[in-house]
Amino acid sequence: MDSVVQLVNRLQSAATLLGDNAASAGDKSLPSLWELLPSIVVIGGQSSGKSSVLEAVVGKDFLPRGTGIVTRRPLVLQLVHLDDPSAREYGEFLHNNHEKIYSFDTIRDEIEAETMRYLKAKGKAVAPEPIQLTVFSPNVPNLTLVDMPGLTKVPIDGQPKSIVRELEDMARSYIKGDNAIILAVTPANADLATSDALHLAREVDPAGDRTIGVLTKLDIMDPGTNARDVLEGQAVRLKHGWIGIVNRGQADIMSKVPMADARRKELEFFKASPHYGGLKNVGTGFLSGKLSMHLINAIRKQLPVIQHSINDGIVDMERELEALGGPGATTRGAMVHLVLQLCRQFEEAFAKSVDGGKGGGEQ
Ligand code: GDP
Ligand code: NA
Ligand code: MG
Repeated sequence: MDSVVQLVNRLQSAATLLGDNAASAGDKSLPSLWELLPSIVVIGGQSSGKSSVLEAVVGKDFLPRGTGIVTRRPLVLQLVHLDDPSAREYGEFLHNNHEKIYSFDTIRDEIEAETMRYLKAKGKAVAPEPIQLTVFSPNVPNLTLVDMPGLTKVPIDGQPKSIVRELEDMARSYIKGDNAIILAVTPANADLATSDALHLAREVDPAGDRTIGVLTKLDIMDPGTNARDVLEGQAVRLKHGWIGIVNRGQADIMSKVPMADARRKELEFFKASPHYGGLKNVGTGFLSGKLSMHLINAIRKQLPVIQHSINDGIVDMERELEALGGPGATTRGAMVHLVLQLCRQFEEAFAKSVDGGKGGGEQ
């Protein structure tokens, strides 16, 4: 099943190369792969802790973070688990020809640089076209996550008023498809009723079939208050429940508290707290496990549909490739050729996973 997660990753890269993403209308000459592929999309207000949650899942510091609009383009983050526990971790960007980058500081710098390059060229403050990063590591589950720019109720940093709407439309376009699993990040030190993430999630997924709540900042709630009722599903009921998280505060980030220490502190917080005893749905470890289970289930459910659509798409793509004069004739020809190859590989892997179907039942 893990190899199928990776094939879905590669199809997603192909879609991004072809300019097919959640915000594009989709190139009608080809099927929109993006819409068919399950993904986990992280939404929430600015500074609710979205990037911190993603970093915790990866176990590395590599995302631009801070106050204000830091994330200005969606980041499609594909995590690929390496079986060899001693393997070196690295990242690859789709826009950089998959060059291997071993320093996570360099990865952060490149996210910032590529964000600015693109926004400058387009003359925009934010843009819905994603940056795509793949992280290979023995310490990550196979998982694909999308980090979104934060939602806001008022423009900040001297931005025009239209940005409020633009950010909301962008988030909506990434979570509206039936195959998006929504990670709705809400800080525990603010009123749940005003949660931007919950509002938007409810709008596109009123039954809560594909929404998971993440409650951050449990460590900095007002003294005398706690969030047990939320975590038990009594305050706001979500079918897939809530997960409580404690990440590093700004002071911890400034003093460079290592990720491993932060995870230990998180565990200690829940162990020592008089409020959260007996709850299973707390901590980053629980979150990672839950996310991979959700993604694998979603992919499993979606495989026949992807397979069917790819079947149809192959015929269309062969025709387009011929019209373009073959794989080497134009850049687009090369891209279509690549997607076609991926689709054929997918077909083969799918056939195998169906034949050997008994093997697909982990988790
Ligand atoms: P984003 O804008 O939603 O991506 O939020 P960030 O991950 O950039 O976090 C915003 C700020 O909140 C940073 O200063 C983080 O250190 C801080 N923060 C995030 N999660 C927690 C948490 O669980 N506890 C505490 N104390 N601070 C947090
Ligand atoms: Na931020
Ligand atoms: Mg962020």
